[in-house]
Amino acid sequence: MSVSLTYHGHAALSINIDGTNVLVDPFITGNPLASIDSSSIEADYILVSHGHEDHVGDTLSIAKRTGATIIANLEIANWFSSQGVVSVHPHHIGGGYDHPFGYVKLTQAHHGSALPDGSYGGNPCGFLIQALGTTLYLACDTGLFSDMEIIGEEGIDLAVLPIGDNFTMGPKDALRAVKMISPTLVLPVHYNTWPLIEQNALEWKQSVEKETSSKVCVLQPGQRIHYKTNQDNGTKDVTIES
Ligand code: NI
Ligand code: MN
Repeated sequence: MSVSLTYHGHAALSINIDGTNVLVDPFITGNPLASIDSSSIEADYILVSHGHEDHVGDTLSIAKRTGATIIANLEIANWFSSQGVVSVHPHHIGGGYDHPFGYVKLTQAHHGSALPDGSYGGNPCGFLIQALGTTLYLACDTGLFSDMEIIGEEGIDLAVLPIGDNFTMGPKDALRAVKMISPTLVLPVHYNTWPLIEQNALEWKQSVEKETSSKVCVLQPGQRIHYKTNQDNGTKDVTIES
């Protein structure tokens, strides 16, 4: 049983859950950090956190090519349906569902969500994903909020947090978020894509590991975090792979 999360730069992720490919905010074309081509990405499901172009990205073309099911809030799911996507699964904030690969709940996020053509994209969200005994919290684009402490009560193995500042939490608030969530591991995202969100992730890692018991994993695009669960005793091996 394994859960493997690959970072594609900016906030784009591929999560492979025992062979099911769950893509998150696939901004690949035009993403200066991306090390893969949108036409070669595999997807069974695509999670879209909000309507901004650096998150919707290549969702439409990937969904049409692969037949992947788009999981998003109702407004974004309906928008993709109107663009010709056959399979969508709408949620809304606070609502979870047992998908075949695992449980997904939409969490709150403080941000905007207008879609690329100006359509209303509802409320932006983050995702809580529970699969094969591994709990992931993707904050997605958001400012700091104190309910992160409640999300932390789920027992988070990996928190994916923005640190870029300007559009989302910056390093200081992301450190406060780590203190509230208390995840085992943290992956910083949404930084160094453009000059406006340049940050030193290694410096941030030092401050987080000095002030909390969480570990920070700084990934280069293409690198992944691999969780393998030992079926006998439920323990997890975590490795970083390039
Ligand atoms: Ni955004
Ligand atoms: Mn963004």
